[in-house]
Amino acid sequence: MVNITFLGHSAVSLEADGKTLLVDPFLSGNPQAAVQASELNPDAIYLTHGHDDHVGDGVNIAQRTGCLVVACFELATYCQKHGCEAHPMHIGGKRDFGWFTLKLTPALHGSAKMSDPPIYMGNPTGGIITLGGKTIYHPGDTGLMMDMELIGRLHNIDLAFLPIGDNFTMGIDDAVEAVKMIKPAQVVPIHFNTFDVIEADPDEFADKVGDLAEVTVLVPGESMELA
Ligand code: NI
Ligand code: MN
Repeated sequence: MVNITFLGHSAVSLEADGKTLLVDPFLSGNPQAAVQASELNPDAIYLTHGHDDHVGDGVNIAQRTGCLVVACFELATYCQKHGCEAHPMHIGGKRDFGWFTLKLTPALHGSAKMSDPPIYMGNPTGGIITLGGKTIYHPGDTGLMMDMELIGRLHNIDLAFLPIGDNFTMGIDDAVEAVKMIKPAQVVPIHFNTFDVIEADPDEFADKVGDLAEVTVLVPGESMELA
């Protein structure tokens, strides 16, 4: 069983067997953040890509707690250079961390940290995560891509988080196409309504998914059990 908490934007907390994996903890500066970064004590953090609305407070949380950061090689190296314990991976690779496994998948997106000059953070990624006996897909930021069909063929996805906010990622209609390819049992929409430019109606998404999957719309701070 996995206890899932949506923290706002693409940030989610996945808890199983007393351990917590945090994904993309963008909380400071996130108008929808459900918690403060200082309240979180994860056992590991997975960062999907280098954009500030995904790395977020990840480096600070890892510095404070000493928890492991897992990310694409270039982003993981950046975290190491900033005092974090980090494990580098790359697309196609899977690793067993004992209480969870992570396989990195492609994402159609960018990944640079937009300082001046921008810092190259490698490829954007998505992750196939197994923990608590469940398989969860967090695609990071991505457009619709045919690779999702392969992901659906190779993995029995119990729950997929899918961006629906359009502009920077898939919008609602493309996310419905993603559901057809990934074939998850359950879907939770993410990456919408944080900012005006990614306004989207999650109920419209749920209607369009229909019987293809069970859609749960979580408001920031809300939890669900994946049993
Ligand atoms: Ni991004
Ligand atoms: Mn983003």
